[in-house]
Amino acid sequence: MATAAESTGAGPMPPDADGYLLRPPRPRDAEELGRLDCEVWRATYRRQLDPDVWSRLVPEPFAERWRERLAAPPAPGVRTLVAVAGLRLAGFGVAGTPRDEVPPAGCELHALNLLPVHHGTGVADQLITSLLGPAAAYLWVAAGSDRAVGFCWRHGFRPDGTEQLAESGMREVRMVREPQLSPAPRQ
Ligand SMILES: CC(C)(COP(=O)(O)OP(=O)(O)OC[C@H]1O[C@@H](n2cnc3c(N)ncnc32)[C@H](O)[C@@H]1OP(=O)(O)O)[C@@H](O)C(=O)NCCC(=O)NCCS
Repeated sequence: MATAAESTGAGPMPPDADGYLLRPPRPRDAEELGRLDCEVWRATYRRQLDPDVWSRLVPEPFAERWRERLAAPPAPGVRTLVAVAGLRLAGFGVAGTPRDEVPPAGCELHALNLLPVHHGTGVADQLITSLLGPAAAYLWVAAGSDRAVGFCWRHGFRPDGTEQLAESGMREVRMVREPQLSPAPRQ
């Protein structure tokens, strides 16, 4: 259950791992997903993005992309899930058909983004497990995103030495995993 730390003024508390619901997004989620996506980018990529680009990150272009995505039929083989905590979205994940011409595995984790208040709750484990199961997969992660790399490492991904410069200007490293025989243990 979601609880609020009203008496301390510390802001809303995240639920425990059982308190999240995973479901596909609906068109009416677009505005909230835009705000969430923008907040995750601002919180995560301050060091990696050009300062001008970072300071111009605002929710509306993110929301516009979500409106377009959610109004169109889903791309073949690609699945999106949102994590809901109470009445609010906590994060989302997207996985499926690779976007690379020569992918190193048959499934790509396109995105996995959680609001910072939900980090460490276990909901990212729920999202990645629901999206990928034990399948072989790969992803691109921004160089220097140590928390994300630690998370991916725990889920069996290892850098394969390939890097690219993303459209955003960030350097990204590719991580790949074999099919998983057992679930990732939490420390
Ligand atoms: C990536 C993300 C989904 C992971 O979810 P999370 O709830 O934060 O992940 P967890 O807490 O389960 O795991 C993070 C791991 O990295 C470790 N970690 C945390 N900070 C770290 C750091 N600075 N350096 C190295 N490892 C770190 C944690 O100890 C944990 O490992 P452990 O479980 O073995 O102890 C979430 O942090 C997020 O949305 N980040 C912003 C968006 C992003 O970077 N997306 C890229 C996804 S590929």
